[in-house]
Amino acid sequence: MNTTTPLNVKKIDISQQELIQQANQAKNMAFAPISGFKVGAALVTCQGKFYLGCNIENISLSLSICAERVAFLKALSEGEREFTTLSLVSDSDKIITPCGACRQLIWEFAPDLTIIMGNSQGEIQCIKIAELLPQAFNFSP
Ligand code: THU
Repeated sequence: MNTTTPLNVKKIDISQQELIQQANQAKNMAFAPISGFKVGAALVTCQGKFYLGCNIENISLSLSICAERVAFLKALSEGEREFTTLSLVSDSDKIITPCGACRQLIWEFAPDLTIIMGNSQGEIQCIKIAELLPQAFNFSP
């Protein structure tokens, strides 16, 4: 698959290769002593700003957090509210997809998000969050 095809992110062209590179950079910071499974994510805002996230595990297992949610929480806590793309990589030769918890958070804050998922061979797959999480939980308070 050609990974250099430009992905139109509003008016800013960020290549899929750049998105995967940023996610790989994020993966270098992963703290995964329990599973040994390192994950990196790169979230892009409408202005083309990157927020990187990695998985961080805790000896109290339920406190561990996925790379995608770290990237989102970093961006949201800086006031960002509009996102176009998320890239996601691990060291696996299989393409990984966001877990269910991450899908719900992503859908709520970025219902039109494009997700680019890569494997260790440099192969990628693109999908919309609405395809990954059809009929997401929602309510109007
Ligand atoms: N993990 C992520 O960071 N993102 C995902 O989408 C799936 C799983 C992390 C959580 C845990 O630290 C490790 O991968 C193994 O499940």
